[in-house]
Amino acid sequence: MSEKTHRLGMVVSGSLTKGLEVRLDGATSIEEMAVGRYVTITGGKRSFFGMVTDISLGVTDERIILSPPAPADRFTAEVLSGTGTFGTLHVLPMLTIGGDTGDLIEGPQPVKTVPAHFAEVRLASQQDMELVFGGEDANMFYIGTPLDMETRICLDLPELVKRSNGIFGKSGTGKTFLTRVLLIGMLQKSKAVSLVFDMASEYGWEGSSESKHGKVKGLKQLFPANVAVVTLDEESSKRRKVSADFVVKIGYDEIEPEDIALLRQTLNLTDIGVEGVYQLSRKFGRTWVQKTLEINPDELPEGLNIHESSLQNIQRGLATIQRLPFLVPRSTDNVVQRILEYLDRGINVVLEFGRYTDITAYILVANLLSRRIYDQYRAKTEKAIAEDSPPPHPLVITIEEAHRFLNPATSSQTIFGIIAREMRKYNVTLLIIDQRPSGIDEEVMSQLGTKITCLLDNEKDIDAVLAGVSGRNELKSVLAKLESKQQALIFGHAVPMPVVVKTREYGSAASYNEFASSSPAGPKKAGKDIEELWG
Ligand SMILES: Nc1ncnc2c1ncn2[C@@H]1O[C@H](COP(=O)(O)OP(=O)(O)OP(=O)(O)O)[C@@H](O)[C@H]1O
Ligand SMILES: [Mg+2]
Repeated sequence: MSEKTHRLGMVVSGSLTKGLEVRLDGATSIEEMAVGRYVTITGGKRSFFGMVTDISLGVTDERIILSPPAPADRFTAEVLSGTGTFGTLHVLPMLTIGGDTGDLIEGPQPVKTVPAHFAEVRLASQQDMELVFGGEDANMFYIGTPLDMETRICLDLPELVKRSNGIFGKSGTGKTFLTRVLLIGMLQKSKAVSLVFDMASEYGWEGSSESKHGKVKGLKQLFPANVAVVTLDEESSKRRKVSADFVVKIGYDEIEPEDIALLRQTLNLTDIGVEGVYQLSRKFGRTWVQKTLEINPDELPEGLNIHESSLQNIQRGLATIQRLPFLVPRSTDNVVQRILEYLDRGINVVLEFGRYTDITAYILVANLLSRRIYDQYRAKTEKAIAEDSPPPHPLVITIEEAHRFLNPATSSQTIFGIIAREMRKYNVTLLIIDQRPSGIDEEVMSQLGTKITCLLDNEKDIDAVLAGVSGRNELKSVLAKLESKQQALIFGHAVPMPVVVKTREYGSAASYNEFASSSPAGPKKAGKDIEELWG
């Protein structure tokens, strides 16, 4: 803490849980303060590090409010400023830095007390920020910069992927861009592999941007050796000139009753219809979808306790699924095996949906493939434990529209609910992306290790994201004041304290260059790849 930034004011009151009131000096312009900024407070024995969560105006004497200076009387206003009138910051103390000895700096510790009255408050310096958040290295990945500073805020990625994580924000706030940045970070630093269910085909080869260029590169263009793009829609991939590694077909015989239960809403199934689905699969085994579609409702087969109208309800639902062009009567090629082969080799897999952006297709495919891949992971991990051999690469599964899989009604039944709850027992975690976090089961939300949230304006969504976080009320005002794009509040396991960042730039030639220069293939090779791209 040697570098001095300018003094803002001093602590006048407060508490550990509710935060500190800081009275600004007369010389400090209140209009230059902003929520989400950091301050350091010099206590007697240690420094405190905190976030500004509110800003207000105060007076020493209520009579000033009752008889303010005349509008033209700048002189009186200035005389009062800093004496009779003053600005106040509300500061949430979060960490202490520096031990009792004074010079020996120990790492940042969670705050357990408050500074004494009149302790000096300064804006946090670059150095302070670096001490708390900084230092890119083999594990720490640069995700963005704090407001009005150039310090690089970094996330510990091997730590991050040990738990499931969430990216939230309303439409157009930068979730997809942030996810791309984070996927690159994981590819480079986490030692985990990713499987991305890419509903709008924006991660694999190319994505769109609202900015002037209109297009941004996907992961495979930047890291061809580390990413495979597989597609459900070969025609769309060809049209977009994506070199897909293989085309995914799914057999009816791979569909299980759980998959249909999850689609209950989109397929308009009744409760009784869903029960019937389980009965039908017990009766017919693997061929149950095909066989069910062939039943004539007038001649119900023996031993089925399903009413005609329920059967028709089920048949209509299955017919909707049958129309999905990537479904074939029998699975031909083992898609799960092929995906696992890539993951085993440490290659990240992006599954593009092409034109099938319909939510039915997304839920069906993501659930069906994840369940089977997870089963394999479980088997492999158990085997590795039994034989004392290395476990498979940790796997991170990215899903969008997460509330469709993880709402309170379905989360306990889906594979995603299971993965979110059991942490990484079998080396699998989730990265969930959602605009409507209030739709996600509270228990799942509480299991997320790190949450990264862009602007949310719905009260329920804000509450859902911040539930259980200390300083929730204060962070609420910070979250509500984020800019509408490319800013996010990060809190949880992977950061020492909540932090607001301007997300690292993605999409310019310079940004690609920078990502590639810390590529796992080594700086030389990456440099060459980029020359080829921009040659
Ligand atoms: N890190 C970033 N670097 C550069 N531009 C960004 C960044 N984040 C956001 N943007 C800009 O904001 C726009 C919206 O971002 P994005 O597509 O990620 O939003 P979203 O939250 O995924 O929206 P939706 O919910 O509709 O999918 C982008 O097209 C881009 O122009
Ligand atoms: Mg998006």
